[in-house]
Amino acid sequence: MSHIFHRSLAQVPATAVKGEGPWLIDAAGKRYLDASGGAGVSCLGHSHPAVIAAIEAQLRRLPYTHTSFFTSEPAERLADKLVAGAPQGLTSVFFTSGGSEATETALKLARQYHVEKGEPQRRHFIARLQSYHGNSLGALSVGGNMARRALYEPILLPNVSHIEPCYVYRNRRPDETEEAYGLRAADALEAEIRRLGPESVAAFIMEPVVGASLGAAPAVAGYLKRIRAICDRHGVLLILDEVMCGMGRTGHLYACAEDGVVPDLLTTAKGLGAGYQPIGAVLIHERIRQVMAAGSGAFQHGFTYVGHAAACAGALAVQEVFEREGLIERVQVLGRRLRDGLQERFGNHHHVGDIRGRGLFVGLELVEDRASKRPFDPARRINGRLKATALEEGLLCYPSGGTVDGKAGDHVLLAPPYICSESEIDLTVERLGTALDRVLA
Ligand SMILES: Cc1ncc(COP(=O)(O)O)c(C=O)c1O
Repeated sequence: MSHIFHRSLAQVPATAVKGEGPWLIDAAGKRYLDASGGAGVSCLGHSHPAVIAAIEAQLRRLPYTHTSFFTSEPAERLADKLVAGAPQGLTSVFFTSGGSEATETALKLARQYHVEKGEPQRRHFIARLQSYHGNSLGALSVGGNMARRALYEPILLPNVSHIEPCYVYRNRRPDETEEAYGLRAADALEAEIRRLGPESVAAFIMEPVVGASLGAAPAVAGYLKRIRAICDRHGVLLILDEVMCGMGRTGHLYACAEDGVVPDLLTTAKGLGAGYQPIGAVLIHERIRQVMAAGSGAFQHGFTYVGHAAACAGALAVQEVFEREGLIERVQVLGRRLRDGLQERFGNHHHVGDIRGRGLFVGLELVEDRASKRPFDPARRINGRLKATALEEGLLCYPSGGTVDGKAGDHVLLAPPYICSESEIDLTVERLGTALDRVLA
């Protein structure tokens, strides 16, 4: 009997014993192609020698120091690198151990910034439905993934409201262009800020490309620029959650580069450490740093493992590998191949309503009926069965439900490692096709 409190108490998962590039191998010797990087994490596969060597070397030199006593060289160098590649204006970094901590940090920074600026009445956060920002209580409070929230609803923060996401496949009206739809969707933020009273709103948080809750649904062109303008008009901070979609996943180091928008706070994790160490970060706009430097001069927040030296050394090596191996450009090339392959295999599939995404961050929305976009009855558990069947076929993908309204709807997310070969991308499409056909048979 396992003494781990596993995610499912009914079943102990297979034991993974080894990683080889994009492949995982279990104790029985079965090989799985990891086409989702777990949950969008392992962007360099599972055995990159340069990242492992950097962590090993750092562990020998100095594994950890507490940031109330010291800074460390890998943390400083990683922050330099992240800022150098970031949208102009993001000038400092607060490290965390993952995505939820990054969300908590961004929410608290937004609050402290407004207080120090002399606007302590700003206490509301606005977020979007069908979004996910983490599982700690603050992060879950802003999240709009109703299935993940439901049990905890009575203990979540009260000062959070949600608007509709930018979900072009379902929410665009037939008489609207994509761009017109995007502007209309963004204007929901203006309406919500006015409803709450603009002087009471602290920040708006969203994923530029929605991952787990919507299956790689990107904002349409113009949406984020309109959101930025609305936030600016009302003194509301814009937090972009790039925990899943950032760090090269969309073919840009930061996903928002494609939208031409600079947030006030940007969270990142997953691909930052690529799974070699747990790490996340919040990038902070100079404007915020200056207000706080001139105010109390200290952030009222922190975690024990902030700026962990070995984690930072690993993440620094990940950044260096991106550059040395030209991997962000490679994501664009492989992403096109993946999209083309999926289009060819599923473009006319009766149960695939939409194929979407950016770079190597791609989602398929599954429907009962393609013409009406009617979702499957949730009782059929399509997404759960697809995950299990794909595993049997030797493929890791990331299916989820509640796509349409938090209850109905199914999608599958693909987030293959950037180091995949062309043939591994093709194999991903092939195995997903086999698994989907089996589930729907
Ligand atoms: C967009 C987004 N934000 C935040 C998180 C939370 O990150 P973590 O699980 O590392 O706490 C996730 C995790 O899936 C995510 O996808």
